[in-house]
Amino acid sequence: TASDLARAERLIGEVKDYPAPGILFRDIMPLLADGPALRTTVDALIEPFLGKFDVIAGLEARGFLLASAAAYASGVGLFPIRKAGKLPRPAASVGYELEYGVAEVEAHNDVPQGSRVLLIDDVLATGGTLIAARQLLRELGYEVAGIAVLFEIDGLGGRSALEDPHLHTVFRS
Ligand code: PRP
Ligand code: MG
Repeated sequence: TASDLARAERLIGEVKDYPAPGILFRDIMPLLADGPALRTTVDALIEPFLGKFDVIAGLEARGFLLASAAAYASGVGLFPIRKAGKLPRPAASVGYELEYGVAEVEAHNDVPQGSRVLLIDDVLATGGTLIAARQLLRELGYEVAGIAVLFEIDGLGGRSALEDPHLHTVFRS
């Protein structure tokens, strides 16, 4: 319900100047630690997309925490997208820019071509991470059925950078 979601939202903490000065870190760990809040939040993440995806992709590292719960809850498989260098047989890689430096995501191709993939991460900030992950899924021949994010930070341009008609965020500020 709306009040269950409001209660879950209040469990998201804020940590000033982490991981660098000037950054306000959104701490979802207290929400994850609360059983009813975790269940309500994961249900709200996938709700708009039910019946429209074949597999759930989660982004290392915090996206994994939500994606595996969401995959279990919806009865589909899990497709992990990892930071570069962690997978034995990467089928594609896409680089992206961070506030400091560059990063790269990689994945295998263990689900069939044409699969409808729901992409999940914890936070949308600049959008760089999700843009790279979406590109990776497309390069692997998958259809991105939706992008579901727990927390959208307004003011960093993520939503407009993504330009995705299938973006759903549960909380924002
Ligand atoms: C964080 C967060 C998102 C991303 C959002 O990941 O979990 O994945 O940044 O930022 P963006 O929209 O500007 O790309 P990060 O790689 O910092 O750490 P993690 O491995 O703990 O998920
Ligand atoms: Mg992350």
